[in-house]
Amino acid sequence: MVTYRVAVIGGDGIGPEVTAAALEVVEALGVKLDTTDFDLGAARYLRDGFVLDEPTLESLRTFDAIMLGAIGPAIGDTRIPGGTLERGLLLKMRFALDLYINYRPFFGVAGSLAQGCDFAIVRENTEGPYAGEGGTLRYGTVNEVATQGSVNTRFGVERCVRYAFERASTREVKKVTLVHKTNVLTYAGDLWNRVVQEVSVEYPNVEVDYNHVDAACIYLVEQPERYSIIVTDNLFGDILSDLAGSVTGGIGYAASANLNPARTGASLFEPVHGAAHDIAGLGQANPLAAISSAMLMLEHLGEFEAATKLSQVVRDCKPEGSVLGTRAVIDAVKERF
Ligand code: IPM
Ligand code: MN
Repeated sequence: MVTYRVAVIGGDGIGPEVTAAALEVVEALGVKLDTTDFDLGAARYLRDGFVLDEPTLESLRTFDAIMLGAIGPAIGDTRIPGGTLERGLLLKMRFALDLYINYRPFFGVAGSLAQGCDFAIVRENTEGPYAGEGGTLRYGTVNEVATQGSVNTRFGVERCVRYAFERASTREVKKVTLVHKTNVLTYAGDLWNRVVQEVSVEYPNVEVDYNHVDAACIYLVEQPERYSIIVTDNLFGDILSDLAGSVTGGIGYAASANLNPARTGASLFEPVHGAAHDIAGLGQANPLAAISSAMLMLEHLGEFEAATKLSQVVRDCKPEGSVLGTRAVIDAVKERF
């Protein structure tokens, strides 16, 4: 039997406990992981003034996968300048390991606005405004200028769009919806639109649709059933995935895979939620987003049987997730294996 080498960054707040829950569930499925803990995040930064250095990054690259819990200081703790950890850890890994897809599946739990809906967001994860193009001029003066560009390469857009079509072609509802703002963002929007049209020719069974991003915000709330795979750029994908999490039952359920499908760097799996310091250590954290992220890791590792089983079980457990507490959710998941 294969043993996978997994780097574990538990991080801050509830991060370590939800990650431990996910590991326990994977072990119960009979998949063998050889884990190595990495002490990174707000606590480490405050203690050692250290976010992520090159040797650690290179070491992370060599693993079969990386699991991340959550990083960030408690709300109101102003000792770490905003963005330090996001850019220094999460975004650094996305760029350095070329995690060019951010895949976020959603399933509307009972009682949510999108109850029963099943769709996923395929977000480009290394370009757009996140690439950091821009600068300031005459900083701090009355004449100051700030520019913030959006990088969209054919290479980056095409590999993202291809991934979206591949995903869509294996789903029950074979449909890709491009979300953009082509009426205003004419250069980037035109590139995205042309690439979608071109790639779609290779997937005659996949229906293609387009929504402006503002309209998509309405549809996600009022007609979420119209989506199967949404493909979009980095910033729209970031914003839409929080909305999607909210309409499908809450961000506490939302899982995320930062993928390098070309496998030139280890892919990273993390719940979308934050560190929730207020409930850390109380056994109240809902581990289902971390467990779903582990499910995406199993899929990426090629453990399809375990992934399919876990995906089904997580769906069954979802409505209870937010009220049961961490231990009860783990047990409820394991009981269903
Ligand atoms: C996410 C987060 C990150 C992002 C932040 C923490 C930089 O919001 O993964 O959705 O904007 O991508
Ligand atoms: Mn986000």
